Amino acid sequence: MEHEDVIALTQRLIDRVNTNTSDEAGETMTVPNSVFLDDALWQREREALFFSTPQTIGFAGEVAKPGSFMTTESMGIPIVVTRDEAGVLHAFINACAHRGSRVADGCGERRRLNCRFHGWSYALDGRLAGRPRDDAFEPANDNLNLIELPVSDCSGLIVVGLRPTMSQSVVHHALDDIAPAFAGYALDKVRPVETRRYDVRANWKMVVNLSHESYHFATLHRDSLSPLMTAHAVTDEFGDHTRWAFPLREIADFENIDRSQWPSRPPATMNHTIYPGTVVVINPNDAQMLRVEPGRDPGSSVVYYSGVCNDLHPIEEARRAYEFGGDIFNDEDLLAAEQCQQGVAACAQGTTILGRNEPMVQFWHRKWRQATQPALDKQ
Ligand code: FES
Ligand SMILES: [Fe+2]
Repeated sequence: MEHEDVIALTQRLIDRVNTNTSDEAGETMTVPNSVFLDDALWQREREALFFSTPQTIGFAGEVAKPGSFMTTESMGIPIVVTRDEAGVLHAFINACAHRGSRVADGCGERRRLNCRFHGWSYALDGRLAGRPRDDAFEPANDNLNLIELPVSDCSGLIVVGLRPTMSQSVVHHALDDIAPAFAGYALDKVRPVETRRYDVRANWKMVVNLSHESYHFATLHRDSLSPLMTAHAVTDEFGDHTRWAFPLREIADFENIDRSQWPSRPPATMNHTIYPGTVVVINPNDAQMLRVEPGRDPGSSVVYYSGVCNDLHPIEEARRAYEFGGDIFNDEDLLAAEQCQQGVAACAQGTTILGRNEPMVQFWHRKWRQATQPALDKQ
């Protein structure tokens, strides 16, 4: 954000604290519990929101240097992202052309990706570079290169299409509407701290919902997060994406500091949600990403939680923040989501209620419904 935008957002947060109010929706909303349970809907969501929509899977800083790579999975598809020697970003299905094994694990820097099964090796632009007993095979051709996926690193985030046929232009422009909100964060220069994977017994939307309201801070996080943060919320929409900010308690001191001296990031946590539900958390000194995807069935999901450190900040501090947030998420939030899932399954004909004080949760349920149940929105 430009500094004038930081000042404006910080002032909005201060105003909400001083008046003990938050940005709210106009009315309450109900959602049928079936949206967390229905198999046909879940199949449509997988197709419309994940396989047909660009996915934000990492920070560009994770593959900043020529010769670097990182690996992950999305919707069960193994992915390797590389930056080749010429500095060009690539994404590939992480599957060897020989018999499908992985050609890279973890992250790092190297000249070649090597399959551990029989030793085929690939250049960072995906070309097959060599294989033991080459004479035992037909001559190599382009069909033996890694399968390339469309990829972009706009706004310092890595965005991919999970199908090779997705338009590169669609992937490249996926973040255009929210790009101004990320300007100045230098996410292309961050250093990776750690990534954890959680397998959760709750619908993916139930888990995304956790990152969109502070109504639960004073109860679920009474002894963990609440002593540090207030629940006053400031929300913004950026096309298909959103930002929900809530302040650190130290924001109370900012009124005594001249605005020109306010730092380049607000004294707040800012959850930026990239369609269809990846949350990029920006804190004053670090950042995290929560990527939630459908799991094996409507009642399960997979979460990838990644932490990164600002360019110049001590990495141990970023690690402490990452672990603090991750432990709260695992011990408190995910437990609540799994209990909610069990509850709505036991009350399958019932509804879930979203208050005026949960505007972001409302926004995202509308968004997901528009993509998967458009007929309902016309009623
Ligand atoms: S599967 Fe990769 S070399 Fe055989
Ligand atoms: Fe929470």
